[in-house]
Amino acid sequence: MKRIDLAKKYNTPLYIYDFDHFSNQYNALKQEFKARKSLVAFAVKSNSNLSVIKHFASLGAGADCVSIGEVQRALKAGVHPYKIIFSGVGKKDEEITKALQLGILFINVESEGELKRVELIASQLEVVARVSLRVNPNIDPKTHPYISTGLNENKFGIDIDTAKRLYIFCKNSEHLDPVGIHFHIGSQLTDLEPIKEASAIVASLVRSLEKLDIEIKFFDVGGGLGVAYEDEKTISAYDYVQGVLETIKGLDVTIVCEPGRYLTANGGEFLTTVLYEKITGEKRFVIVDGAMNDLLRPSLYNAYHEIEVIGKEKREETLADIVGPVCESGDFLAKATPIALCEHGDIIAVKSSGAYGFVMSSNYNTRGKAAEVALENGNDRLIRRRESVEDIWRLEEEFLDDK
Ligand code: LLP
Repeated sequence: MKRIDLAKKYNTPLYIYDFDHFSNQYNALKQEFKARKSLVAFAVKSNSNLSVIKHFASLGAGADCVSIGEVQRALKAGVHPYKIIFSGVGKKDEEITKALQLGILFINVESEGELKRVELIASQLEVVARVSLRVNPNIDPKTHPYISTGLNENKFGIDIDTAKRLYIFCKNSEHLDPVGIHFHIGSQLTDLEPIKEASAIVASLVRSLEKLDIEIKFFDVGGGLGVAYEDEKTISAYDYVQGVLETIKGLDVTIVCEPGRYLTANGGEFLTTVLYEKITGEKRFVIVDGAMNDLLRPSLYNAYHEIEVIGKEKREETLADIVGPVCESGDFLAKATPIALCEHGDIIAVKSSGAYGFVMSSNYNTRGKAAEVALENGNDRLIRRRESVEDIWRLEEEFLDDK
């Protein structure tokens, strides 16, 4: 079905996902690892729809999760517990307990304090916790500061010297099994060098741990592979994998990676309908029914997403801001983008919206979250219905009656 017909059938604002693109991206990356034991764990945070996770699970993917909610989503969608990783700097006791009870592959530990908590909880549960330490290699990934994570100034991970001491602590603990090592230096990476540098630093730590009889089984290189939103030069799956493999020569480890954006970004589009054209002084605005509550990336990061008016012949274009109905001046989907004069009812596609799109949406201004549709083998199907106002106030309604 054409996108314009999908917009009519399901109404807008609408997210559409090309599941065939998702498969192609997953298979291309997995294929590059063929010579080694590997686990491609889909970073659920980038697109958490159950049907999306289920799709990746059906291809053999694992899941990289950053909350127990995401772990539960992954399980519900059919990911095997032994393919689930749980990361994040601030895990609560309840989350650690549940993760240990569920028997996931390992917990990525991000601080000494957390490691001690995991040990304590594992001892109370009388289990041995499989853990991996997230090492901070102190490398500048050269990406947007909000999505850069591999420098000491960031809140993520443990520095190399502390990590070594903590691995020895794990070895001497009855309740900790240090099966893995992990790093993730940032997201939307378009330069291979920092990844190689980070990987080499972490690999040399693995070699020094070997000498202490600490055997690391899982070498987790994180996520972060960038995609083209505009004309960025990206890293190919081949170069990425070769770059990492070079640094771990001679190590008998299963390579784990946690891509999110690479798998989903360019398989998704956000469809929105034009409501009005408006000119204030010199400035032209195209007002649409989608807003920052649906797609936050432009407002939050000043991120660029290509805009296309669907089903219109090429006409003369002038610059306009594409803005939504939310009462914030920061509510925009594009700034000063070339676009032909629009009419009420025209459909606009905001490209590359499959990652960090719907998942970052909110109910701000009591706007129901958008519907989501899967496209696969030429068919379309709803995978999340549009939220109604009743959905939005469901958790508040019961408190209206005076008691
Ligand atoms: N692993 C860890 C530990 C992470 O922190 C992340 C992303 C990933 C994997 C997946 O990264 P990816 O392959 O998708 O780059 N909201 C931002 C992106 C935040 C990324 C956070 N961490 C955005 O819209 O650009």
